Amino acid sequence: MKITPSNMTWLNLPNLPAPLKALFAGYLLAIGIGLLMAGLQIMLTHGMADGKVGLSVDDIVYSYYGDRSDSKLVSKLNGSMKDKAPEGVRQDIILWAQKGASKEGWDNQFKEVFAKHCTMCHSQVPGIPDFTAYEAVEETTTTDQGASITGLTRVSHIHLFGISFIFFFIGLIFSFAVGVSRKLKVLAIAFPFAFLVLDILSWWLTKLSPGFAYLTIIGGIGYSLASTFMWVTSMYQMFILSRNGKVYGNAWEQDL
Ligand code: HEC
Repeated sequence: MKITPSNMTWLNLPNLPAPLKALFAGYLLAIGIGLLMAGLQIMLTHGMADGKVGLSVDDIVYSYYGDRSDSKLVSKLNGSMKDKAPEGVRQDIILWAQKGASKEGWDNQFKEVFAKHCTMCHSQVPGIPDFTAYEAVEETTTTDQGASITGLTRVSHIHLFGISFIFFFIGLIFSFAVGVSRKLKVLAIAFPFAFLVLDILSWWLTKLSPGFAYLTIIGGIGYSLASTFMWVTSMYQMFILSRNGKVYGNAWEQDL
C-alpha cells in the first residue's frame, strides 16, 4: 500500500511510535543537560571576568573589549585567577605588573612566585600561556585588549557549527508538535538561529566598542527562551499529552 501523508496519523509528538519517542527524548535529555552545563560554564568563566559572581554587561565588556585600564595579567588576577594566590602575593604581582614587570623583579622574586602558584597549570594545561618563561608573563602585562581575533574566529565558528546542529534537531522534533499555531511554530524554530547569529555578531561588535555588550545578553536570553519553549513543549506532548489516547493526525500536514 502506498503511504500518503493523510494516513500517517501517527506523525505528531503525542502519537509517535515508542522507538522514535525514545530517540527524541534521549536526545533532548542529553542536550538539555549539555545546555545547563554550558550556562554554568559561562557563569564560571565570563561570569567571573569582573571578579564578581554572576554574568553582567561588565563581564562581557571585559571578556571581548578587554579592561583597557589594566593589563591582562592584572585583570585576570582581579577576575578568574583571583583565588590562585594568597592575597599578599596577589597584590605583589599586581604591583610588579603595574610598574612594568621588570626582568630584575622576575629573576629575583617572581620567577619563584609564579613557579609556586601558577605553573602547575600554566605550563601543563595546553592553550594557556606557559609562565615558566618571563616573555610569556611579560606579554600578558601589556594592556588588556580582550578577546583576540584568532580566539574570536575560533570560538565563533565552533559555536555556529555546533549550536546550529543542536537547534536544528530541537526544531525538527518540535515541528511535530500539535496544537501550536503555524506562525508560533515557525517563529520558535527560526528564533534560536537568528539569536545565535546576533549573539556571535555581538562578540565582534563588543570587541570594537563596549556599547554592544547588551546585545550578547539579548542574544543569549533569546535563544535560551526559544529552545526551552520547544524542549518543554516536545517533552510534554510526547509523555503527558499523549496519555489522553487521542489521535492527532499528521502534524506536518496541518501546517501545510
Ligand atoms: C588551576 C589551574 C590554574 C592556576 C593555578 C592558575 N591559572 Fe591562570 N589560567 C588557568 C586557565 C584554565 C586559564 C584560561 C581561562 C581563563 O582565562 O580564565 C587561565 C588564564 C590565565 C590568564 C589569561 C591568559 C590569556 O592569555 O588569556 C592569566 C594572565 C593567568 N591565567 C594568570 C595566572 C596567574 C598569575 C596565576 C598564579 C597566581 C595563575 N594564572 C594560576 C588556570 C590556572
